[in-house]
Amino acid sequence: MTSAHPTSGPTSDPASALTSEPASGAAARADGRPTLRELAVQALSSVEHGYDLLAPKFDRTPFRTPERFLTATGEALRAFGPFAAGLDVCCGTGAGLGLLAELCEGPVTGVDFSAGMLARAHAAHPRARLVRADARALPFRGEFALAVSFGAFGHFLPAERPALFAGVHRALAPGGLFAFPVPAPPRVGTPWWWAMAGFDAAMRVRNALWRPPFVMYYRTFPLGPVRRDLTRAGFDVTTVPLAGFGFRPDGAPNCRLVLARRV
Ligand SMILES: C[S@@+](CC[C@H](N)C(=O)[O-])C[C@H]1O[C@@H](n2cnc3c(N)ncnc32)[C@H](O)[C@@H]1O
Repeated sequence: MTSAHPTSGPTSDPASALTSEPASGAAARADGRPTLRELAVQALSSVEHGYDLLAPKFDRTPFRTPERFLTATGEALRAFGPFAAGLDVCCGTGAGLGLLAELCEGPVTGVDFSAGMLARAHAAHPRARLVRADARALPFRGEFALAVSFGAFGHFLPAERPALFAGVHRALAPGGLFAFPVPAPPRVGTPWWWAMAGFDAAMRVRNALWRPPFVMYYRTFPLGPVRRDLTRAGFDVTTVPLAGFGFRPDGAPNCRLVLARRV
C-alpha cells in the first residue's frame, strides 16, 4: 500500500491496486503487479523500507504518476522555461525525471530516501544525478531553477510541511520555481470521497496500532494551508488550471498546477 498520488491529489482509486488481485494473494501475478500479500507487507513497513520492497513492481502500480499528469505539467511549465538545473523531489522510480530533462538545459537531479526506488530511477534515467536523502532535510543550496514533485505529499504530515518547503526553498536559486499538480478534492459523499476517507481512517488505525508508522494520507494536503505554508517558507504562490483535466460545474478546475516562486 502506498500513495496513489496522495496529495498532489489522488489519480487513482485507493483500492484500485487491489481490485484485480488473484484468489491466491501469495502467488506472483502474471501482469507483474504486486500481490495483496506484498502490498500488506509493504504497508506494515516504514515508508522508506516499504518503497524499497515495492520498487521492482512500482511502475506497474497505479501509484506511479500517470503520464497525463506529467504531460499537462510539462505543457504548463514550458511557458516559464527553459530552465537551468532541475530537481525532482521524492522522485521514486523517476516519473518526473524525463519531464525535467525536457524542460531543463542544465543537469537533472532526483532525490528520494528509498535506495530501491533510486536504483530503478537510475536504470531508467542513467544520466540523472540521484541523491538519497530525506525530503524533510534536503541537502541542496541554491542549485536549481526548477523543482517539481509528483505523488508524494501524502507521506508528509502537516507539521512536516514547513521543513519540506524550507528545504525546497533553500535548494532553489533566487527566482527559482517549485511546481506540482494538485487535483481538486472530491465532493463530500461521492464514492471517491468515501474511498479516500476510508483509506485515511484505515491508515490512522494502522498507525495507532503498529510500529513503524507508514505515513500516507489522502487528505492532509489541502490547497489553502499548503499555500499558507509555502508563503511562510518564502515563496510567492500562484496556480494555473490544468485545463486538460476539465472543470467543475462551478468553473473550478479539476486539477491545478501550483507555481511557488522563490522570492
Ligand atoms: C508514490 S511515490 C511517487 C514517486 C514518483 N514521484 C512518482 O510520481 O511516480 C512516493 C515517493 O516518495 C518517497 N518519499 C516519501 N517520503 C519521503 C521522504 N521523507 N524523503 C524522501 N523521499 C520520500 C518514497 O520513497 C517514494 O519513492
